[in-house]
Amino acid sequence: MKQFQVELGNQSYPVLIGSGVLTRAGRILHSLGFRTAPVVVSNRRVLRLHGSSLLRSLENAFGPVMILRAGDGERFKQHSTLIRLYRDLIRGRADRRSWIIAFGGGVIGDLAGFAAATYMRGIPYVGVPTTLLAQVDSSVGGKVGVNLAEGKNLIGAFHQPRAVLSDTGALGTLPPRELASGLFEVVKCGAIRSEELFRYLERNVADLRQCLSPVVSHIIFEAMRVKAAVVAEDEREGRERMVLNFGHTLGHALEAASAYRRFNHGEAVAWGMIAAAELSNSLGMLEARDAARIAALVHRIERLPALRGISAARIWANLRRDKKFDSGSIRMVLLSRLGQAEIVENLDPRYVRRFISEFLGTHQQVLCSEV
Ligand SMILES: NC(=O)c1ccc[n+]([C@@H]2O[C@H](COP(=O)([O-])OP(=O)(O)OC[C@H]3O[C@@H](n4cnc5c(N)ncnc54)[C@H](O)[C@@H]3O)[C@@H](O)[C@H]2O)c1
Ligand SMILES: [Zn+2]
Repeated sequence: MKQFQVELGNQSYPVLIGSGVLTRAGRILHSLGFRTAPVVVSNRRVLRLHGSSLLRSLENAFGPVMILRAGDGERFKQHSTLIRLYRDLIRGRADRRSWIIAFGGGVIGDLAGFAAATYMRGIPYVGVPTTLLAQVDSSVGGKVGVNLAEGKNLIGAFHQPRAVLSDTGALGTLPPRELASGLFEVVKCGAIRSEELFRYLERNVADLRQCLSPVVSHIIFEAMRVKAAVVAEDEREGRERMVLNFGHTLGHALEAASAYRRFNHGEAVAWGMIAAAELSNSLGMLEARDAARIAALVHRIERLPALRGISAARIWANLRRDKKFDSGSIRMVLLSRLGQAEIVENLDPRYVRRFISEFLGTHQQVLCSEV
Protein backbone atom coordinates (compact mmCIF):
# COMPACT_ATOMS: atom_id res chain seq x y z
CA MET A 1 0.00 0.00 0.00
CA LYS A 2 1.24 3.48 -0.88
CA GLN A 3 0.59 6.46 1.31
CA PHE A 4 1.22 10.18 1.31
CA GLN A 5 0.02 13.24 3.12
CA VAL A 6 -1.84 16.19 1.62
CA GLU A 7 -0.17 19.08 3.41
CA LEU A 8 -2.70 21.70 4.44
CA GLY A 9 -1.51 22.75 7.88
CA ASN A 10 -3.98 21.63 10.55
CA GLN A 11 -6.26 20.27 7.82
CA SER A 12 -3.64 17.88 6.42
CA TYR A 13 -4.81 14.35 5.67
CA PRO A 14 -3.43 11.01 4.50
CA VAL A 15 -4.18 9.35 1.16
CA LEU A 16 -3.80 5.56 1.08
CA ILE A 17 -3.73 3.67 -2.22
CA GLY A 18 -3.52 -0.05 -2.90
CA SER A 19 -5.29 -3.27 -3.62
CA GLY A 20 -7.42 -4.57 -0.72
CA VAL A 21 -7.74 -1.23 1.07
CA LEU A 22 -11.52 -1.75 1.44
CA THR A 23 -11.11 -4.86 3.57
CA ARG A 24 -8.70 -3.01 5.84
CA ALA A 25 -10.66 0.26 6.00
CA GLY A 26 -12.03 -0.30 9.52
CA ARG A 27 -8.61 -0.91 11.03
CA ILE A 28 -7.01 1.95 9.10
CA LEU A 29 -9.70 4.44 10.17
CA HIS A 30 -9.51 3.24 13.77
CA SER A 31 -5.77 3.85 13.73
CA LEU A 32 -6.45 7.37 12.42
CA GLY A 33 -8.45 8.08 15.57
CA PHE A 34 -12.07 7.37 14.57
CA ARG A 35 -13.97 5.62 17.37
CA THR A 36 -17.68 5.74 16.48
CA ALA A 37 -19.49 4.05 13.59
CA PRO A 38 -19.62 6.13 10.37
CA VAL A 39 -22.58 6.88 8.13
CA VAL A 40 -21.80 5.39 4.70
CA VAL A 41 -23.24 7.35 1.74
CA SER A 42 -23.18 5.39 -1.50
CA ASN A 43 -25.40 4.06 -4.28
CA ARG A 44 -26.87 0.67 -5.14
CA ARG A 45 -24.37 -0.27 -7.80
CA VAL A 46 -21.28 0.49 -5.72
CA LEU A 47 -22.78 -1.24 -2.68
CA ARG A 48 -23.64 -4.33 -4.74
CA LEU A 49 -20.18 -4.54 -6.32
CA HIS A 50 -17.94 -3.57 -3.42
CA GLY A 51 -20.08 -2.91 -0.37
CA SER A 52 -19.59 -6.17 1.46
CA SER A 53 -15.80 -5.85 1.90
CA LEU A 54 -16.03 -2.27 3.16
CA LEU A 55 -19.05 -2.79 5.42
CA ARG A 56 -17.70 -5.96 7.01
CA SER A 57 -14.44 -4.24 7.81
CA LEU A 58 -16.19 -1.15 9.23
CA GLU A 59 -18.56 -3.23 11.35
CA ASN A 60 -15.67 -5.21 12.79
CA ALA A 61 -13.99 -2.00 13.86
CA PHE A 62 -16.96 0.17 14.88
CA GLY A 63 -20.15 -1.93 15.17
CA PRO A 64 -23.33 -1.40 13.09
CA VAL A 65 -23.07 1.21 10.36
CA MET A 66 -25.83 3.44 8.95
CA ILE A 67 -26.03 3.19 5.13
CA LEU A 68 -27.64 5.94 3.03
CA ARG A 69 -28.25 5.34 -0.68
CA ALA A 70 -28.36 8.12 -3.27
CA GLY A 71 -29.50 7.66 -6.86
CA ASP A 72 -26.83 6.71 -9.38
CA GLY A 73 -25.63 9.38 -11.82
CA GLU A 74 -24.92 13.05 -12.31
CA ARG A 75 -28.63 13.97 -12.33
CA PHE A 76 -28.86 12.93 -8.67
CA LYS A 77 -26.09 15.37 -7.68
CA GLN A 78 -28.67 17.98 -6.74
CA HIS A 79 -30.50 19.55 -3.85
CA SER A 80 -33.42 17.11 -3.59
CA THR A 81 -30.99 14.22 -3.00
CA LEU A 82 -29.20 16.35 -0.47
CA ILE A 83 -32.41 17.18 1.43
CA ARG A 84 -33.19 13.46 1.59
CA LEU A 85 -29.72 12.78 2.99
CA TYR A 86 -30.11 15.46 5.67
CA ARG A 87 -33.50 14.05 6.68
CA ASP A 88 -32.15 10.50 6.81
CA LEU A 89 -29.24 11.71 8.93
CA ILE A 90 -31.63 13.38 11.38
CA ARG A 91 -33.90 10.34 11.45
CA GLY A 92 -30.84 8.15 12.13
CA ARG A 93 -29.87 10.49 15.01
CA ALA A 94 -26.63 11.63 13.44
CA ASP A 95 -25.26 14.53 15.44
CA ARG A 96 -22.21 16.82 15.48
CA ARG A 97 -19.94 13.93 16.45
CA SER A 98 -21.06 11.77 13.53
CA TRP A 99 -18.90 11.32 10.44
CA ILE A 100 -19.57 10.31 6.88
CA ILE A 101 -17.84 7.97 4.45
CA ALA A 102 -18.35 8.95 0.80
CA PHE A 103 -18.21 5.57 -0.94
CA GLY A 104 -18.45 5.76 -4.73
CA GLY A 105 -17.44 7.84 -7.74
CA GLY A 106 -17.11 11.61 -8.01
CA VAL A 107 -20.87 12.13 -7.84
CA ILE A 108 -21.12 10.47 -4.43
CA GLY A 109 -17.92 12.21 -3.31
CA ASP A 110 -19.22 15.68 -4.18
CA LEU A 111 -22.68 14.99 -2.76
CA ALA A 112 -21.69 13.25 0.48
CA GLY A 113 -18.83 15.72 0.97
CA PHE A 114 -21.25 18.63 0.64
CA ALA A 115 -23.70 16.96 3.03
CA ALA A 116 -20.80 16.64 5.51
CA ALA A 117 -19.76 20.26 4.94
CA THR A 118 -23.23 21.54 5.79
CA TYR A 119 -24.96 19.06 8.13
CA MET A 120 -25.03 20.66 11.60
CA ARG A 121 -22.59 23.29 10.25
CA GLY A 122 -20.09 20.65 9.22
CA ILE A 123 -19.07 17.16 10.30
CA PRO A 124 -15.98 15.17 9.23
CA TYR A 125 -15.93 12.91 6.20
CA VAL A 126 -13.62 10.35 4.66
CA GLY A 127 -13.42 9.64 0.93
CA VAL A 128 -13.48 6.07 -0.31
CA PRO A 129 -13.44 6.70 -4.07
CA THR A 130 -14.27 3.78 -6.37
CA THR A 131 -13.84 5.23 -9.88
CA LEU A 132 -10.45 6.09 -11.33
CA LEU A 133 -11.60 9.67 -11.90
CA ALA A 134 -12.52 10.00 -8.23
CA GLN A 135 -9.29 8.30 -7.11
CA VAL A 136 -7.03 10.55 -9.17
CA ASP A 137 -8.99 13.76 -9.09
CA SER A 138 -12.19 14.57 -7.23
CA SER A 139 -11.41 12.91 -3.89
CA VAL A 140 -8.48 15.24 -3.17
CA GLY A 141 -8.82 19.00 -2.97
CA GLY A 142 -11.86 19.53 -0.79
CA LYS A 143 -14.21 20.84 -3.48
CA VAL A 144 -17.68 19.49 -2.78
CA GLY A 145 -21.07 20.51 -4.10
CA VAL A 146 -24.17 19.93 -6.17
CA ASN A 147 -25.57 21.03 -9.53
CA LEU A 148 -28.44 23.35 -10.36
CA ALA A 149 -30.57 23.22 -13.49
CA GLU A 150 -28.65 26.39 -14.47
CA GLY A 151 -25.25 24.69 -14.39
CA LYS A 152 -22.86 22.19 -12.85
CA ASN A 153 -21.30 22.61 -9.40
CA LEU A 154 -22.92 26.00 -8.81
CA ILE A 155 -23.62 25.29 -5.13
CA GLY A 156 -20.65 24.11 -3.12
CA ALA A 157 -18.08 24.47 -0.40
CA PHE A 158 -14.48 23.71 0.42
CA HIS A 159 -14.46 20.90 2.95
CA GLN A 160 -11.32 18.79 3.21
CA PRO A 161 -11.72 15.07 3.95
CA ARG A 162 -10.02 13.57 7.03
CA ALA A 163 -8.57 10.77 4.89
CA VAL A 164 -8.87 9.24 1.43
CA LEU A 165 -8.74 5.45 0.99
CA SER A 166 -8.41 4.31 -2.63
CA ASP A 167 -8.74 0.60 -3.37
CA THR A 168 -7.31 -0.13 -6.82
CA GLY A 169 -9.02 -3.53 -6.69
CA ALA A 170 -12.39 -1.77 -7.00
CA LEU A 171 -11.44 -0.43 -10.44
CA GLY A 172 -11.63 -3.89 -12.01
CA THR A 173 -15.43 -3.57 -12.36
CA LEU A 174 -15.36 -0.18 -14.12
CA PRO A 175 -16.61 0.00 -17.72
CA PRO A 176 -13.66 0.69 -20.11
CA ARG A 177 -14.84 4.21 -20.96
CA GLU A 178 -15.01 5.16 -17.27
CA LEU A 179 -11.49 3.84 -16.81
CA ALA A 180 -10.24 5.81 -19.83
CA SER A 181 -11.94 8.95 -18.53
CA GLY A 182 -9.86 8.75 -15.35
CA LEU A 183 -6.70 7.96 -17.31
CA PHE A 184 -7.09 11.21 -19.25
CA GLU A 185 -6.97 13.16 -15.98
CA VAL A 186 -3.74 11.31 -15.20
CA VAL A 187 -2.35 12.30 -18.62
CA LYS A 188 -3.23 15.88 -17.64
CA CYS A 189 -1.27 15.60 -14.38
CA GLY A 190 1.75 14.33 -16.29
CA ALA A 191 1.45 17.02 -18.96
CA ILE A 192 1.26 19.93 -16.48
CA ARG A 193 3.73 18.85 -13.81
CA SER A 194 5.57 15.58 -14.40
CA GLU A 195 7.22 14.49 -17.60
CA GLU A 196 8.28 11.35 -15.74
CA LEU A 197 4.64 10.39 -15.14
CA PHE A 198 3.86 11.17 -18.78
CA ARG A 199 6.68 8.87 -19.94
CA TYR A 200 5.52 6.14 -17.56
CA LEU A 201 2.04 6.34 -19.10
CA GLU A 202 3.53 6.06 -22.59
CA ARG A 203 5.47 2.94 -21.62
CA ASN A 204 2.64 1.23 -19.71
CA VAL A 205 -0.49 2.07 -21.63
CA ALA A 206 -1.33 -1.57 -22.41
CA ASP A 207 -1.18 -2.61 -18.74
CA LEU A 208 -3.22 0.41 -17.75
CA ARG A 209 -6.05 -0.54 -20.05
CA GLN A 210 -6.13 -3.93 -18.38
CA CYS A 211 -6.09 -2.30 -14.98
CA LEU A 212 -3.04 -4.19 -13.67
CA SER A 213 -2.78 -3.25 -10.03
CA PRO A 214 0.86 -2.20 -9.48
CA VAL A 215 0.85 -0.02 -12.60
CA VAL A 216 -2.50 1.53 -11.67
CA SER A 217 -1.40 2.13 -8.05
CA HIS A 218 1.71 3.87 -9.33
CA ILE A 219 -0.12 6.29 -11.62
CA ILE A 220 -2.81 7.06 -9.02
CA PHE A 221 -0.08 7.80 -6.51
CA GLU A 222 1.82 10.06 -8.91
CA ALA A 223 -1.31 11.87 -10.18
CA MET A 224 -2.51 12.42 -6.62
CA ARG A 225 0.88 13.81 -5.69
CA VAL A 226 0.65 16.30 -8.55
CA LYS A 227 -2.85 17.36 -7.55
CA ALA A 228 -2.00 17.48 -3.84
CA ALA A 229 1.09 19.61 -4.49
CA VAL A 230 -0.90 22.11 -6.55
CA VAL A 231 -3.73 22.18 -3.99
CA ALA A 232 -1.28 22.61 -1.11
CA GLU A 233 0.19 25.65 -2.86
CA ASP A 234 -3.22 27.09 -3.50
CA GLU A 235 -6.12 25.61 -1.55
CA ARG A 236 -8.78 28.02 -2.74
CA GLU A 237 -8.49 28.17 -6.48
CA GLY A 238 -6.26 31.14 -7.01
CA ARG A 239 -3.88 31.36 -9.90
CA GLU A 240 -1.70 28.29 -9.24
CA ARG A 241 -4.61 25.90 -9.04
CA MET A 242 -5.69 26.97 -12.52
CA VAL A 243 -3.06 24.68 -14.07
CA LEU A 244 -5.34 21.76 -13.13
CA ASN A 245 -7.73 23.14 -15.73
CA PHE A 246 -5.40 22.21 -18.59
CA GLY A 247 -7.63 20.87 -21.38
CA HIS A 248 -10.75 21.82 -19.47
CA THR A 249 -11.63 25.13 -21.14
CA LEU A 250 -12.28 23.55 -24.50
CA GLY A 251 -13.30 20.30 -22.78
CA HIS A 252 -16.19 21.96 -20.95
CA ALA A 253 -17.25 23.74 -24.15
CA LEU A 254 -17.28 20.41 -26.01
CA GLU A 255 -19.35 18.75 -23.27
CA ALA A 256 -21.87 21.59 -23.41
CA ALA A 257 -21.89 21.82 -27.23
CA SER A 258 -22.81 18.13 -27.43
CA ALA A 259 -25.43 18.44 -24.63
CA TYR A 260 -23.32 16.22 -22.30
CA ARG A 261 -24.19 13.18 -24.42
CA ARG A 262 -21.36 12.35 -26.78
CA PHE A 263 -18.29 12.67 -24.57
CA ASN A 264 -17.80 11.77 -20.96
CA HIS A 265 -15.85 14.37 -18.99
CA GLY A 266 -12.43 12.75 -19.48
CA GLU A 267 -12.97 12.31 -23.23
CA ALA A 268 -13.91 15.97 -23.65
CA VAL A 269 -10.84 16.96 -21.62
CA ALA A 270 -8.71 14.66 -23.79
CA TRP A 271 -9.78 16.59 -26.92
CA GLY A 272 -9.23 19.80 -24.96
CA MET A 273 -5.66 18.76 -24.11
CA ILE A 274 -4.86 17.87 -27.71
CA ALA A 275 -6.18 21.29 -28.78
CA ALA A 276 -4.36 23.18 -26.00
CA ALA A 277 -1.10 21.43 -26.91
CA GLU A 278 -1.53 22.30 -30.60
CA LEU A 279 -2.36 25.88 -29.66
CA SER A 280 0.77 26.00 -27.48
CA ASN A 281 2.75 24.80 -30.48
CA SER A 282 1.16 27.29 -32.88
CA LEU A 283 2.12 30.10 -30.47
CA GLY A 284 5.72 28.90 -30.54
CA MET A 285 5.69 27.74 -26.89
CA LEU A 286 5.77 23.95 -27.30
CA GLU A 287 7.69 21.76 -29.73
CA ALA A 288 5.56 20.03 -32.37
CA ARG A 289 6.81 16.59 -31.36
CA ASP A 290 5.65 17.13 -27.75
CA ALA A 291 2.20 18.21 -28.91
CA ALA A 292 2.13 15.06 -31.07
CA ARG A 293 3.07 12.91 -28.05
CA ILE A 294 -0.01 14.13 -26.19
CA ALA A 295 -2.31 13.27 -29.10
CA ALA A 296 -0.60 9.88 -29.58
CA LEU A 297 -0.93 8.90 -25.91
CA VAL A 298 -4.59 9.95 -25.79
CA HIS A 299 -5.42 7.93 -28.90
CA ARG A 300 -3.63 4.87 -27.54
CA ILE A 301 -5.71 5.01 -24.36
CA GLU A 302 -9.03 5.15 -26.18
CA ARG A 303 -10.50 5.92 -29.56
CA LEU A 304 -12.21 9.19 -28.71
CA PRO A 305 -15.77 9.95 -29.86
CA ALA A 306 -15.44 11.99 -33.05
CA LEU A 307 -15.78 15.77 -33.28
CA ARG A 308 -17.98 15.42 -36.35
CA GLY A 309 -20.87 17.87 -36.58
CA ILE A 310 -19.63 20.12 -33.79
CA SER A 311 -19.38 23.63 -35.18
CA ALA A 312 -16.76 26.16 -34.20
CA ALA A 313 -19.55 28.70 -33.67
CA ARG A 314 -21.21 26.49 -31.03
CA ILE A 315 -17.92 25.92 -29.26
CA TRP A 316 -17.17 29.64 -29.37
CA ALA A 317 -20.60 30.51 -27.97
CA ASN A 318 -19.99 28.12 -25.07
CA LEU A 319 -16.49 29.41 -24.45
CA ARG A 320 -17.79 32.95 -24.17
CA ARG A 321 -19.99 31.95 -21.24
CA ASP A 322 -16.77 31.22 -19.36
CA LYS A 323 -15.70 34.29 -17.41
CA LYS A 324 -12.10 33.87 -18.56
CA PHE A 325 -13.36 34.50 -22.08
CA ASP A 326 -15.82 37.30 -21.78
CA SER A 327 -13.46 40.22 -21.69
CA GLY A 328 -11.41 41.39 -24.62
CA SER A 329 -8.57 38.97 -24.05
CA ILE A 330 -8.39 35.32 -23.08
CA ARG A 331 -6.55 33.42 -20.37
CA MET A 332 -5.68 29.76 -20.90
CA VAL A 333 -3.46 27.05 -19.48
CA LEU A 334 -0.89 26.11 -22.12
CA LEU A 335 2.34 24.09 -22.13
CA SER A 336 5.91 25.26 -22.57
CA ARG A 337 7.10 21.64 -22.48
CA LEU A 338 5.78 18.29 -21.30
CA GLY A 339 5.59 18.57 -17.52
CA GLN A 340 5.45 22.37 -17.49
CA ALA A 341 2.18 24.29 -17.71
CA GLU A 342 1.96 28.06 -18.07
CA ILE A 343 -1.01 30.32 -17.45
CA VAL A 344 -1.08 32.57 -20.48
CA GLU A 345 -2.94 35.87 -20.26
CA ASN A 346 -3.98 38.24 -22.98
CA LEU A 347 -4.46 35.78 -25.80
CA ASP A 348 -6.02 37.43 -28.80
CA PRO A 349 -9.64 36.20 -29.12
CA ARG A 350 -9.50 36.37 -32.92
CA TYR A 351 -6.43 34.14 -32.98
CA VAL A 352 -8.00 31.61 -30.61
CA ARG A 353 -11.24 31.59 -32.57
CA ARG A 354 -9.43 30.97 -35.84
CA PHE A 355 -7.38 28.24 -34.19
CA ILE A 356 -10.53 26.47 -32.95
CA SER A 357 -12.10 26.50 -36.43
CA GLU A 358 -8.94 25.09 -37.96
CA PHE A 359 -8.58 22.50 -35.19
CA LEU A 360 -12.14 21.26 -35.64
CA GLY A 361 -11.72 21.26 -39.42
CA THR A 362 -8.54 19.19 -39.36
CA HIS A 363 -9.67 16.70 -36.73
CA GLN A 364 -13.13 16.24 -38.19
CA GLN A 365 -11.52 15.39 -41.53
CA VAL A 366 -9.04 12.95 -40.06
CA LEU A 367 -11.74 11.03 -38.22
CA CYS A 368 -14.19 11.14 -41.14
CA SER A 369 -11.67 9.65 -43.51
CA GLU A 370 -10.96 6.84 -41.04
CA VAL A 371 -14.54 5.57 -40.99
N1 LIG B 1 -14.70 17.81 -6.49
C1 LIG B 1 -13.83 17.83 -7.46
O1 LIG B 1 -12.73 18.38 -7.32
C2 LIG B 1 -14.17 17.15 -8.74
C3 LIG B 1 -13.19 16.95 -9.71
C4 LIG B 1 -13.54 16.26 -10.86
C5 LIG B 1 -14.82 15.78 -11.03
N2 LIG B 1 -15.76 15.99 -10.06
C6 LIG B 1 -17.13 15.49 -10.21
O2 LIG B 1 -17.08 14.07 -10.28
C7 LIG B 1 -18.24 13.61 -10.98
C8 LIG B 1 -17.83 12.52 -11.94
O3 LIG B 1 -17.29 11.45 -11.22
P1 LIG B 1 -17.22 9.96 -11.82
O4 LIG B 1 -16.67 10.01 -13.18
O5 LIG B 1 -16.58 9.12 -10.79
O6 LIG B 1 -18.77 9.62 -12.04
P2 LIG B 1 -19.82 8.79 -11.15
O7 LIG B 1 -19.64 9.06 -9.72
O8 LIG B 1 -21.15 9.06 -11.74
O9 LIG B 1 -19.41 7.29 -11.46
C9 LIG B 1 -19.59 6.76 -12.76
C10 LIG B 1 -20.40 5.47 -12.71
O10 LIG B 1 -19.58 4.40 -12.22
C11 LIG B 1 -20.27 3.72 -11.15
N3 LIG B 1 -19.21 3.16 -10.32
C12 LIG B 1 -18.55 3.72 -9.29
N4 LIG B 1 -17.59 2.90 -8.86
C13 LIG B 1 -17.63 1.80 -9.64
C14 LIG B 1 -16.88 0.60 -9.70
N5 LIG B 1 -15.84 0.41 -8.89
N6 LIG B 1 -17.22 -0.33 -10.63
C15 LIG B 1 -18.24 -0.11 -11.50
N7 LIG B 1 -18.98 1.00 -11.50
C16 LIG B 1 -18.67 1.95 -10.58
C17 LIG B 1 -21.12 4.78 -10.54
O11 LIG B 1 -22.17 4.22 -9.78
C18 LIG B 1 -21.60 5.54 -11.80
O12 LIG B 1 -22.67 4.83 -12.39
C19 LIG B 1 -18.86 14.82 -11.63
O13 LIG B 1 -20.02 15.18 -10.94
C20 LIG B 1 -17.80 15.90 -11.48
O14 LIG B 1 -18.36 17.20 -11.37
C21 LIG B 1 -15.45 16.66 -8.92
ZN1 LIG C 1 -11.57 17.17 -14.99
